[in-house]
Amino acid sequence: SRITKYVTPLVVPAVMPTDPGYPDSEIDYYTIGARQFQQQVLPRGLPRTTVWCYGAEGQSNTFSYPGRTIEARVDRPIQVTWVNGLVDRRGNFLPHLLPVDQTLHWANPPGGEQGRDSRPQFTTKPGPYTGPVPLVTHLHGARAGEESDGHAEAWYLPDAHDIPDGYARVGSYYEEFAEQYADEFGVRWTPGTASFFYDNDQPASTLWYHDHALGMTRVNIYAGLAGFYLLRGGAHDLADALPGSAPGEGGQGRSYEIPLLIQDRTFNVDGSLRYPTGPSPHTEGEHSTVEPATSGTGTREVISTSLWIPHYFGRVMVVNGNTWPNLDVEPRRYRFRLLNGCNSRTLILKLADNPLATRPANPALPLWQIGGDGGFLPTPVKLRQLLLGPAERADVVVDFTGLAPGTNLYLINEGPDTVFRGGLPGKDFPPADPNVSGQVLRFHVVDLVSEDTSVPPDKLGHLPTPPRPGEATVVRRLSLSETRLPDGSKVPVLGGVGQAGEPVPMHWHHPVSENPRVGDTEIWELHNYTDHAHPIHLHQVSFEVLGRKPFFDEGDHTRPPEVWETGPKDTVIAYTQEITRIKATFDRPGLFTWHCHLLEHEDNEMMRPYQVVGQDE
Ligand code: C2O
Ligand code: CU
Repeated sequence: SRITKYVTPLVVPAVMPTDPGYPDSEIDYYTIGARQFQQQVLPRGLPRTTVWCYGAEGQSNTFSYPGRTIEARVDRPIQVTWVNGLVDRRGNFLPHLLPVDQTLHWANPPGGEQGRDSRPQFTTKPGPYTGPVPLVTHLHGARAGEESDGHAEAWYLPDAHDIPDGYARVGSYYEEFAEQYADEFGVRWTPGTASFFYDNDQPASTLWYHDHALGMTRVNIYAGLAGFYLLRGGAHDLADALPGSAPGEGGQGRSYEIPLLIQDRTFNVDGSLRYPTGPSPHTEGEHSTVEPATSGTGTREVISTSLWIPHYFGRVMVVNGNTWPNLDVEPRRYRFRLLNGCNSRTLILKLADNPLATRPANPALPLWQIGGDGGFLPTPVKLRQLLLGPAERADVVVDFTGLAPGTNLYLINEGPDTVFRGGLPGKDFPPADPNVSGQVLRFHVVDLVSEDTSVPPDKLGHLPTPPRPGEATVVRRLSLSETRLPDGSKVPVLGGVGQAGEPVPMHWHHPVSENPRVGDTEIWELHNYTDHAHPIHLHQVSFEVLGRKPFFDEGDHTRPPEVWETGPKDTVIAYTQEITRIKATFDRPGLFTWHCHLLEHEDNEMMRPYQVVGQDE
């Protein structure tokens, strides 16, 4: 069987419903579960796929992959009770859909409650984990308190009947936060749930929620646990000038603002998701995959004896939960909220007339980027192509005005089919295979229905970009490098920088070394000693990208941030042999996390805690 492209209409995720019964409240309440469902991810006629979906508890028709979009307003808080609903009809736990490596530093329920101080020590390598699945949701880009941040060790199991004796039901930080904070919100954290509070006191921006359980994030997100969270309003929004919703002609409102979650995947012929495993004794044989994904997809350049693979690259592109969908567009302007939700793949997106155009292709239309991770850019930026590392977002306007109905345009991808090392497609690396991962989405032009009252991007002028952080008082030198574990396997790590300019690797369980004082503004200098780029994400803050310079800088080769990086960011690409400098104000005390957002890396030690300490600590 083959996957026919552009036969499935793009799904625009509906709005996540709030809990009924709180109409006059100053807070919106949600109860959002994660459950297992079958969804038509492949085109009709091919088998359905078992995926994990977020949705409103008690309303099973709201569950989808990706999850419904949470619509939030600046300064209007939200409380979400996140439910781990990975149970079957009888209330027994559901095992993972994908191989879970038990040799990583991971949530590890059978190991009991471990905390940050122990990595499982196995004398023999166990096979994939088959027990109940730990989950914890992180709102990526949120300025949340520590208890609501989705800390990787604040995970919890579903409230299933058959949790084996001796299993930890929650991670160490779940207990810690539950004790400290439950009363503050007037809620109890009941078995299988956690209640998180999002103040939304930050600029309008494109956030996303996704699972963050320690050592399992890559497979939990791969199974479907991700969705958009759009924060609107306040002093740094610009709704009216941009393409948005046209109030209901014929009862149906149309939306010209569309979030696009782009992910790469591999499917077995029965429609199930396939995630490859590393060269361990437990590696399954190569399964045949549904066309066009016929070959193995994991790269195996790092020696490891575990199931873990250092990067994942799928050949099938999935947008908002469907393979290669089609979007009918009117000849007018649209606003797209792009999110790279791939595990490892860096996207370089472009609009082309021909999906198989020789790469690099000539762009058919520019992409006007107006915003990034944390809000608007100072002015719109006209781009031929758009670079998006995993977890980065781009708020983009595309002007289809004047195109004849019947015209097709293609969102293509010229990023590499392997790990990103920087540079340009066709010059520094071969672009993605134009037959498969080099194509993403088709735009099919139809007749104009609604008059376009939005302002053309080149006339938008200054955008309401949020203020930048003030003067920094602390500079930290930090490193991205590789180290060997006692079993000989190589892992990517973060850490410090020594006197001689050498990396000082630190693991997840090592004591906190980054501890800004509350209110302080700091510069973090990210020294990348590895041979490829890593998207580095800080929880809780947004930062300014100050620029980059090579390690061995004779003379001044400092590069300013790219034009599309001039608004607030929470994830930045750190290139090899370079120092990437960022600046942030740490204005909320608590325990947070910073990490590489290549999901395979964050699951295997490329993640560190940081602690913002109060003035009196
Ligand atoms: Cu999008 Cu710590 O993650
Ligand atoms: Cu990395």
